[in-house]
Amino acid sequence: MSTLRSWLFVPGDSDKKLGKGVGSGADALILDLEDSVAKANKSAARQLVRSFLMERPRSTRKSQLWVRINPLDSPDALSDLVAVVGADPDGVMLPKADGPADILRLSHYLDALEAAEGRTANREGAAPAKILPVATETAVSAFRLGEYATAPLPRLLGLTWGAEDLSAAVGASTNLDASGQWAFTYQMVRSLCLLGARAACVEPIDTLFVNFKDEEGLRASSRQSRAEGFTGRLAIHPAQVAIINESYRPTPDEVAHAQRVIAAFAADPQAGTVGLDGKMLDAPHLKQARDLLANAEAYASR
Ligand code: COA
Ligand code: MG
Repeated sequence: MSTLRSWLFVPGDSDKKLGKGVGSGADALILDLEDSVAKANKSAARQLVRSFLMERPRSTRKSQLWVRINPLDSPDALSDLVAVVGADPDGVMLPKADGPADILRLSHYLDALEAAEGRTANREGAAPAKILPVATETAVSAFRLGEYATAPLPRLLGLTWGAEDLSAAVGASTNLDASGQWAFTYQMVRSLCLLGARAACVEPIDTLFVNFKDEEGLRASSRQSRAEGFTGRLAIHPAQVAIINESYRPTPDEVAHAQRVIAAFAADPQAGTVGLDGKMLDAPHLKQARDLLANAEAYASR
């Protein structure tokens, strides 16, 4: 399985958008039960999301199907899980996570609910649901981004971050600086999310690009994000999916360069370090080149 580049939020109470999401080409859909669903619609949304999943068994899914549940400290979270776990989501997104202890708690809930469905880890064909926390939405969460690296969390697929709830949590009236870029606090948690995910050997997933009509802005921002090390990003509108998929896919120039790196090492199998275009290459460059080619191959058909 290659890296998931585009993660499209779909409000879980909208039959129409759920239908539209199916054809979007997103690597993953996030069927939302949290902020995009009003309190009065939560219960109906759970049933709609459950049926949507049931009608699409894993082997038939073109996009992975994830569910964003409500925060663990709300009474809605358990109702969300009880409704959807039996319908076999590929994963669960946890908003407002305070840190690894919340992921452990969610893992235990999933262990119990999957066992109740007869979907235990050692049963053939069973694939436990993964977890993607929104790991920067509370004030304390920022101090714990380094702790994912030492927490035993086999369900953890990646870390992503968000600025909206964090700005509310710190009493800010804006999360932007005077030039319209992320203010320092949000740049800081973005970097810590990247570092925390890499330290934990899971995927760093960048946040959404809010102005969904600005295609060029999304493209530039996504290329920059990928160059910094993020492997994908969240989306809020189907029009963003193709741009994200393209931006996080290796470019032909990168593929050609990776092939030359591999060829340079192959030409001198005893050497730990080689020169290419006047630059020194060693083991991490070879690993990067191999990873890049593997991803390029996996994306070739998508
Ligand atoms: N998933 C699936 N379909 C979507 C979609 C989404 N996230 N966003 C828009 N669409 C559909 C619309 O229903 C519309 O369908 P139609 O052509 O059959 O009428 C089409 O795509 C074009 O949509 P558009 O008119 O450009 O946008 P909109 O004004 O209907 O919706 C938003 C704008 C922001 C409300 C909508 O994009 C949305 O709901 N985004 C997700 C919000 C969310 O989940 N937030 C939680 C995470 S922050
Ligand atoms: Mg939110």
